[in-house]
Amino acid sequence: MKQFLFVAFSLSTVLVFSYCSSSKKTAVAKPATVPVLNYETNIQSLVLANCSPCHIPAKGGNKLALDNYESVKNNIDAVISRIELNAGERGFMPMKRAKLSDSTIAVFKQWKTDGLAGK
Ligand code: HEC
Repeated sequence: MKQFLFVAFSLSTVLVFSYCSSSKKTAVAKPATVPVLNYETNIQSLVLANCSPCHIPAKGGNKLALDNYESVKNNIDAVISRIELNAGERGFMPMKRAKLSDSTIAVFKQWKTDGLAGK
């Protein structure tokens, strides 16, 4: 009888342990996917919406053309510093309009941080 109890106890211990170790394997953390911003997806529409018509030649704008990737990329520092100014300050953009929202300004800055990809 003692022997039987010992065997039964050992078996159940093995079962409990193997169950525990197999359930541990399931939780493998996935790396967080942070999208890298690019001109086509994230920037072009913001410039069109906020800097038109003045900077969009096709809309009749005659200021620095910001209607293409190369130009926005090459002028990103000027763009960011001007949209970070406050309305009324010298050089503020978009001229004669309300300041862009913090989240919109953050998109331009993040695009620069991400490396200014085209698409
Ligand atoms: C209502 C017209 C108008 C709008 C809208 C406008 N701008 Fe301008 N922008 C101007 C004018 C006029 C100048 C030239 C005077 C100056 O440099 O301040 C200028 C100059 C600039 C310059 C400097 C260009 C250079 O040759 O050095 C940058 C950069 C600029 N704007 C960015 C922007 C951005 C980015 C937007 C949109 C968020 C914007 N602007 C919206 C009228 C506008």
